[in-house]
Amino acid sequence: MQPLRIGVLGSGSGSNFQALLDAIASGSLPAEIVLVMSDVPEARILERAHFAGIPSSVIDCGGHTKKFPLASQQSVADAMMAAGAELICLAGFMRLIKTPLLHAFPKRIINIHPSILPAFPGLEAWKQALDAGVTETGCTVHYVDAGMDTGPIIQQVKVPVYTNDTYASLHARIQEQEHVIYPSAILKIIPTLTR
Ligand code: GAR
Repeated sequence: MQPLRIGVLGSGSGSNFQALLDAIASGSLPAEIVLVMSDVPEARILERAHFAGIPSSVIDCGGHTKKFPLASQQSVADAMMAAGAELICLAGFMRLIKTPLLHAFPKRIINIHPSILPAFPGLEAWKQALDAGVTETGCTVHYVDAGMDTGPIIQQVKVPVYTNDTYASLHARIQEQEHVIYPSAILKIIPTLTR
């Protein structure tokens, strides 16, 4: 079987993208990353892609800071198709995916989110968890649908919240687990993808 061709969308540091690269390099994930796209020109994920020799590009969102215009989504779909991506992994991508991309990659877009969904969807879920005073949170890999962090769940891991946690310490503990479950969730769904 040929390695799974993955496209990645990210807006930030790209540590989850790095975790996928590391899993591929170690031989534990039979995949290759064919394209990285970011809506943030200065995002570290693009530097990481460049360093790893992976094609990358900036998504033109027409000057919108939060909206993900339909034309931009279509251009991402076109670029991912042209790169031969079979699965799109959102790795800290902060815009909502809608029809053009969902139709181009049905049940083939997944996301990693820093909470045990359906708890704490949306932005900075680790802050939401700490502010809510819960003793446990975690992370989730799920299929993307048109909602915000609502698609079917593939894998979750719980993480304890300690009384002396800060936003940063809690996010770091969640991210350690994200880096483990993202490659493992992909491995789990590979047999379900028609190729
Ligand atoms: C991760 O914690 C990821 O779960 C979160 O953004 C961070 C990106 O970190 N995503 C979301 O909150 C999506 N709703 P990274 O750029 O280092 O991978």
